Amino acid sequence: MERIGVLTGGGDCPGLNAVIRAVVRVACQNKIKMIGIKNGWKGLISNDTIELDLNSVAGILPKGGTILGTSRTNPYKNGSEVAKVIENYKKMKLDALIAIGGEDTLGVANKLIKENKGLNIVGVPKTIDNDLSATDFTFGFDTAVNIATEAIDRLHTTAESHHRIMVVEVMGRHAGWIAVYSGLASGADVILIPEVPIDLDTVCEALQKRKARGKSFSIVVVAEGATFKEGQVVLKEEKLDSFGHVRLGGIGERLADEIEKRTKFETRVTVLGHIQRGGTPSAFDRVLATRFGIKAMELALNKKFGYMASLSGKDVVEEPIEKAVGTLKTVDMKLYDLAKIFFG
Ligand code: F6P
Repeated sequence: MERIGVLTGGGDCPGLNAVIRAVVRVACQNKIKMIGIKNGWKGLISNDTIELDLNSVAGILPKGGTILGTSRTNPYKNGSEVAKVIENYKKMKLDALIAIGGEDTLGVANKLIKENKGLNIVGVPKTIDNDLSATDFTFGFDTAVNIATEAIDRLHTTAESHHRIMVVEVMGRHAGWIAVYSGLASGADVILIPEVPIDLDTVCEALQKRKARGKSFSIVVVAEGATFKEGQVVLKEEKLDSFGHVRLGGIGERLADEIEKRTKFETRVTVLGHIQRGGTPSAFDRVLATRFGIKAMELALNKKFGYMASLSGKDVVEEPIEKAVGTLKTVDMKLYDLAKIFFG
């Protein structure tokens, strides 16, 4: 093992730099050259790299984003780009590649592995959405939940002063993990997730119940991918990214309008958006990302290609990448039922 590449793909999230740092530190201890591939799969298509050494990773542990840059480039969208990926992997003389990403990036990794294209890939799961299977948590999620919780706490005080309903739209794509965790942590009065269609009658009833017991304000947390009962996902626009995902967003506004119309309670909406993905990682995410980075290097050194680092309980273990990308990990309904105890 002489040369290992590392890339970060898909939406960025806090903790990516902590993985890169861990990987490079282990590489240096083993006299391995680390090649940083810029902007996810795009960098393998265009042969865009930087050499990573101890200096390049000094001081990056608390930094959000990724020093390698990222993109949502899908080499499978255009067949000839897969050939470029393989050609450049060979040109770079890589013995292994560490792909740090979510469903899309690891999905590409999985296809390359399955098609036996000669790429030795190990994975590291990341996403603020926490929707990857085969790991209890992804890094980035804890930070996003903390950011959302702090924002909701702040909205709480202004909601109370003005006797308003505050609707807070959080990210999470088609899973409601951020909504449930931040909603539970901040004492939200209603939490709405993609896994359970929104029943406006039940929502308004809960808010009216609060009013009847003297609470003149309420907090409603809604995940961006939530849909109304028998309704359509509310989309920002019909644009698709190169993995075919629609851009979500807009449910908060629609929901606030409906609540105000039905209850006549003054309602405001806040969309937290990319704030949830930016800035410094939480201590939990720094530690998890570091452990994942070290595990990924261990997998590469032991030639356990096709596997990724994963959190199982308290342990960092290995799981086939295939298991992570097969099905989306949606919210555990036992947890949602627990959150519902506090509705209204
Ligand atoms: O997957 C992470 C995520 O932040 C989702 O929660 C969100 O739907 C999406 O990425 C936003 O993507 P983009 O950064 O391309 O707008």
